[in-house]
This record gives sequence, structure tokens and C-alpha cells, in this order.
Amino acid sequence: MTEDSDVEEEAQENTEEPEESILETNRKKYQFIEDLPGVGPATAQKLKELGYHTVESLAMATSRELEPVGVSEKKAFQVIEAARSSIGISFIRADELFKMRQTVLRITTGSKALDKIVDGGLETQTITEFYGEYGSGKSQMCHQLCINVQLPPERGGLNGAALYIDTENTFRLERIVQMAKGAGIDPAEAVKKIIYAEAYTSDHQMFLLENADEIIKANNIKLIIVDSLTAHFRSEYIGREMLAPRQQKLNKHMHKLIALARAFNAVAVVTNQVMSKPDQFFGDAIHPIGGNIVGHTSATRIYLRRASHGPIRIARLVSSPYLPEGEEILKVTENGIEDVSEEEKATKPRGR
Ligand SMILES: Nc1ncnc2c1ncn2[C@@H]1O[C@H](COP(=O)(O)OP(=O)(O)OP(=O)(O)O)[C@@H](O)[C@H]1O
Ligand SMILES: [Mg+2]
Repeated sequence: MTEDSDVEEEAQENTEEPEESILETNRKKYQFIEDLPGVGPATAQKLKELGYHTVESLAMATSRELEPVGVSEKKAFQVIEAARSSIGISFIRADELFKMRQTVLRITTGSKALDKIVDGGLETQTITEFYGEYGSGKSQMCHQLCINVQLPPERGGLNGAALYIDTENTFRLERIVQMAKGAGIDPAEAVKKIIYAEAYTSDHQMFLLENADEIIKANNIKLIIVDSLTAHFRSEYIGREMLAPRQQKLNKHMHKLIALARAFNAVAVVTNQVMSKPDQFFGDAIHPIGGNIVGHTSATRIYLRRASHGPIRIARLVSSPYLPEGEEILKVTENGIEDVSEEEKATKPRGR
């Protein structure tokens, strides 16, 4: 090595230029799907009919999903690749993966105790599932999150809006108003930041999510809720022979949700009921509906149950890719989801 090249190397080391990320190389930005190479007006129209309105959602598609558009597999692949490079998904180094992981944001649950066992709140880019019996507080939690996402980051929010897909017609504006007041935000403003859709069947539920990308982008949605994930599927797909198609559909639905959560760096929350299955060794065991499909696609699963009577609920972190199991108590009051004070803890028994 010559002296010159040493000097040159040193000069390079001293420059203030940030290290080039392989995420950034050759990145070309496309704003609309029509801007993507190979997407003419007719193809764009067909993509939109399939639910792909944004470059972000297209980046998360598979070439097989684009089959109905009528383009060749090769072309579908090129379109997806262009969309991916535009939003920066490609092979990445592990240190960059670490950086991406650092883009994960969190929303407070309203309970500091529960936030603590989930590492500071519910995270973006993955699905969090709340499961539990009737009245355990799953929908209350969903309502609360619609308020919390609107808070500024210093209060545990993301200054964002919420998308609420309601399958059981249990969304209540009155509760939103109470919780907004509880959080000290203007209810009239809060309701403007919740986009609501009622899903009438499982197919309708899937359709809503498949067509949600544009709404998510246009409204700065940072929280996507499906309450309940499984109710329609459970009532429509009855019997053993329906189990396989049900699971297949649920799988597709969950993957769409993950794709949206990643594409828009949003928190995804689903609720799920439970059934009790006779267990050979331990008596009746409580199991969430949906089996392995739902279990494997929800990164974080939280089991909610009542503590005898009253407002107290027990929240148990049952599965997380990187956190230990944990259990905490919280309460549901007029103001929403709150912590249980030390005095209350001392006077109230934990119940079952
Ligand atoms: N305004 C309120 N003030 C205090 N507690 C309330 C209020 N509204 C609802 N709750 C509590 O929340 C409970 C209902 O919880 P929630 O609707 O979240 O149940 P869930 O887990 O979604 O049940 P399901 O499986 O039937 O959907 C009520 O039984 C009550 O205890
Ligand atoms: Mg509910």
C-alpha cells in the first residue's frame, strides 16, 4: 500500500458522510403504482381492483397474488421488485436489520403495568392478539388504543389515527367519548381520527382489509384493529371438513394484516375468543380460537381474564418472540384502561 492511498483512506474515514446503507443503494422512489415501470393504466386498474392501491402494499405482495391481474409471473415479479426497492426492502445486513428493528414504535395500553411486561407498549410491524372470555375487556382495550394512538409520543402515542374493523357491532362511540375525556383530549377531535368499518361476514372482513391500504396512507393510520378476528370465521365454518378452508382463509387474512402493519409501520391488534377443551392431564384448558395459524402469526399474545367481580382484569403475556412471560393487573373504568393503585391491590383479592 502506498503512502498516498493511506492518506486517502484516512481522509475518507474522517468525512462526515453517513455510512452508505445497502438499503439506500439504487433506491428509486415511486409515489403511485402507475409510476412503477411496466404498470400501465390497465394494469394499474386491475391492481386496484385486487386491493393494491399503493406502492407500499404492492411491495408486500407475492407474484402469485398478482396472477388474477393477467400479467406474466416474470412481469409481476418485476413490478413487486420495483415497489420493494422503492420503499427499501431488499437483502439487508444484520446491523441494518437492527436499525429497522429500531424503527419499531409503541403505543401505550393505558396501563403502565401491562406496558412494562410488553417492553413499553404494543409494537408496530407485528400483530398483537388479545384473547379471553366474554367481558374480559378485549373490546375495551381496542377502544382505549384508538385514543392512545392519537396521543403524542411523550404520552405513549404516535400522533396517528386508528382503523377499526368491527365484526360484532360492539364499537361504541359513547365509550370513545368517555375515554377521550379520560385522556384529556377533545372527543370531537378524537372521533375524527377513527376510521370505522363494520364487517358483515368473514369474506367482507377480508375484503375490507385487502382494500385498506389507501385509507391507511391517506389518514396517517398507525393502529389497525380487527375486533373480533375469529367470530365470523367461527360461525361460518362449522364442522371438521370446514376446518382446513377456514384456517387457510384466516392465514391469508393475518398475513395481509402483517403486510399492512409493516408497510405503514402501524400497530396491528386482533381480538380472539376462547374455548375450553378437555385436557387429558390438566382438566379443562382454555384455548384461543384459530389454533396454530392465529398463534404463529400473532407475534404477541395477551390473555385477558376477569378477577372475580369488579373492574379488575388480569393480563398475561403468553407469547412473545423475545420477552419472558409475565402477568399484571389492570382495571376497566369509565375513563378506560387504567392501572390498579397500590391501595386497591392491597384491599382487593386477585380472584380466580
Ligand atoms: N363505561 C364503563 N365503565 C366501566 N366498565 C365498563 C364500561 N363499559 C364496559 N365496561 C366493562 O367492560 C366489560 C365489557 O368488556 P368488553 O366488551 O371489552 O369484553 P370483550 O372481551 O370484548 O367480550 P366479547 O368476547 O363478548 O367481545 C363490561 O362487562 C364492563 O365490565
Ligand atoms: Mg368484544
